[in-house]
Amino acid sequence: MMKVLVTGGAGYIGSHTAVLLIEAGYDIIIFDNFCNASLESIKRVEKIVAQKITTIEGDVRNRDDLHTVFNKHKIDAVIHFAGLKAVGESVEQPLKYYDNNVNGTAVLCEVMAEHGCRSIVFSSSATVYGDPHSTPIDENFPLSATNPYGRSKLFVEEILRDLYISDNRWKVILLRYFNPVGAHASGTIGEDPNGIPNNLMPFIAQTAVGKRDYLSIFGDDYETHDGTGVRDYIHVMNLADGHVKALDKIENFKEVMTINLGTGKGYSVLDMVKAFEKASGKKVPYQIAPRRSGDIAKCFADPSYAKKVLGWEAKKNIEEMCVDSWRWQSNNPDGYN
Ligand code: NAD
Ligand code: UD1
Repeated sequence: MMKVLVTGGAGYIGSHTAVLLIEAGYDIIIFDNFCNASLESIKRVEKIVAQKITTIEGDVRNRDDLHTVFNKHKIDAVIHFAGLKAVGESVEQPLKYYDNNVNGTAVLCEVMAEHGCRSIVFSSSATVYGDPHSTPIDENFPLSATNPYGRSKLFVEEILRDLYISDNRWKVILLRYFNPVGAHASGTIGEDPNGIPNNLMPFIAQTAVGKRDYLSIFGDDYETHDGTGVRDYIHVMNLADGHVKALDKIENFKEVMTINLGTGKGYSVLDMVKAFEKASGKKVPYQIAPRRSGDIAKCFADPSYAKKVLGWEAKKNIEEMCVDSWRWQSNNPDGYN
């Protein structure tokens, strides 16, 4: 049985991926410093899969924390979710992002190599495409960054490519996520942002449940079908499945693999509001507000490469995303607290 270290495994995407990894027969160890997660998410995952999960509190920037894990466990591969992801915060505190995301990954890889583990699946983001010249976006589009968060993802991609050039025993898969939403069908795990959500889906869900008065829609004058921003929302369980498929195949690849994980469909903010109202039976009041700085009009994936090389495809539609997100939100109005 392959042993997999899941850094950031207590977080939103990591916890959902943990469920599918265990169901697929992988032996996993969760490693998280809990800076943006709680132990409760892991307890709930344990309930879903009906087994205990080895969980280690530690920081990917801390060599000793990592050595302890690698000395104790013979780890075959790492899925590296651990990192910070708030764009606005990254503009205000860039060093925090470069330290956590870039330095954290460098330290992790150094310790991995020392222990003879050279297989890594990395959480990159569609943000590395910057403001794309057209849609759908394929993996060969030009890369750029508009903020330190995005730059940290670009840097890590480059670092991992350099690592492979230096030693081609490395197996590297860079997964570029589009916009993950939704929750596990049990409604027991989901996205639990701190404070006021930055992202659309949790904001809509909190408005529907009555925690927020109204949604501010950031701009209705974009060149899209209704003027509001268009994104490729992908169900987190489909995204999680993409990681299982990547791990299943990682030993076969002979080069660094860079793969979009998206649905290929674009929905606007207003489309999402309507779909959520239908799924929840609740009204989502909104107001049109100015554009958010750094936002782009349209972003959706060409997901055909993932299908070709991983045999993976996102199957869940927008209704399922909203229904599952609502089940999580309405059963857990205060998240894991
Ligand atoms: P999340 O914040 O829920 O999960 C990240 C986890 O990493 C948290 O549990 C946090 O406590 C942990 N962590 C952070 N820094 C750490 C460190 N130094 N050492 C150990 N643990 C640490 O975020 P998420 O949405 O699950 O995102 C997971 C990954 O996917 C991140 O790297 C993020 O940048 C990337 N990503 C997310 C999105 C998205 O929209 N959610 C989109 C593209 C890429
Ligand atoms: C944002 C980040 C991106 C990151 C991604 C996942 C920015 C500029 N980009 O992407 O780097 O990878 O989250 O964490 O922050 N919207 C509203 N009202 C809201 C919130 C959002 O109208 O209260 C709109 C946005 O303008 C956008 C869409 O909803 O058109 C989606 O926004 P969001 O969920 O924040 O994701 P992205 O902007 O795609």
